[in-house]
Amino acid sequence: MWKKAIEETLTITSRNLENFGEHYPHVSNGDRRYALIENTDWTNGFWSGILWLSYEYSRDSRFREQAVWTVDSFRKRLEDRSYLDHHDIGFLYSLSTKAQWIVEKDHSARELTLQAADVLMERWREASGLIQAWGPEGDSENGGRIIIDCLLNLPLLLWAHEQTGQDAYRRVAELQAFKSRRFLIRGDDSSYHTFYFDQTTGDAIRGGTQQGDKDGSTWTRGQAWGIYGFALCSRYLQNTELLETAKRLARHFIARLPEDHVAYWDFNVPQTPTSPRDSSASAIAACGLLEIADLLQADDPEREWFLDVAVKSMQSLIRNYSTQGEENAEGFINHGSYSVRANVSPDDYTIWGDYFYLEALMRLDQGIPGYWYDR
Ligand code: GLY
Repeated sequence: MWKKAIEETLTITSRNLENFGEHYPHVSNGDRRYALIENTDWTNGFWSGILWLSYEYSRDSRFREQAVWTVDSFRKRLEDRSYLDHHDIGFLYSLSTKAQWIVEKDHSARELTLQAADVLMERWREASGLIQAWGPEGDSENGGRIIIDCLLNLPLLLWAHEQTGQDAYRRVAELQAFKSRRFLIRGDDSSYHTFYFDQTTGDAIRGGTQQGDKDGSTWTRGQAWGIYGFALCSRYLQNTELLETAKRLARHFIARLPEDHVAYWDFNVPQTPTSPRDSSASAIAACGLLEIADLLQADDPEREWFLDVAVKSMQSLIRNYSTQGEENAEGFINHGSYSVRANVSPDDYTIWGDYFYLEALMRLDQGIPGYWYDR
């Protein structure tokens, strides 16, 4: 089943190579066609990651050629420092330049990835002890704001520490992970999407949301970023508290899954036949559950359960959400949501959903875990 699903993605990606040319797919807008963008957003790395995974599986040089083109485009973005004024440097460079390093041990790609880690380090605010997610330093709204998505940016810093031995990368990543654990995770194991701190004193102000239904609700994708991100940080830091946090978030997520194992977009909205799902959240969570299972001892009683839910979610994504059998589909899975409340691609393809779907399939079929850590 996994192999057939991977092969289907390869067919779609081969077709997309022609259609996308020197552009990047982002999300669709209700028309089952990807909006194509320049290398300017937080999502560009996912296309690169899909190309590298497709190349690793097939060794088809067309995928490599385009993947190398994306690495060059990421080099230019770094040189120009364009559109890098946010924390999503880890999403962008883990799946592009770092992927090339992991796949080919290309030293110039390693060098670019280290430069990207330095750009992310510039978002560390010593006074408040956090990585500022969005906006310029001192910004009145966002100057002291963190968001849960950042946990997937931290592996870039932890990898840079491993590569260089420089403690500063590890210190910042560890402080950010533990601040996220303390303030973004609520007592019932649900999560805030974002949290505000006083930017001069670091005093906690309040939790909030950007893409969830309400400040106090749980945005499903945020919870999924937490599951996977805390598990990855625990691997790098060999820290059982962070693994425990990933497990707590995972239990909360699993307990709220509907019968078909694919999450609605927010856990606190009514689950009706017309409520949007977020298939991308379930693909991310599947990768996180597989990562957690990999980190647990073979005889851990919960290990099989996490694996089983990951498998059931992926089976459902393949059977009920994938574009298998649809003519000329551009995406791998339907029914992702970017921002339901803002009505921005609320029920569409998302390039990150496609990436994590393929990453989970590659983990299940090939034991290849994506590009968050060196192999
Ligand atoms: N990191 C942005 C999102 O998940 O929509």
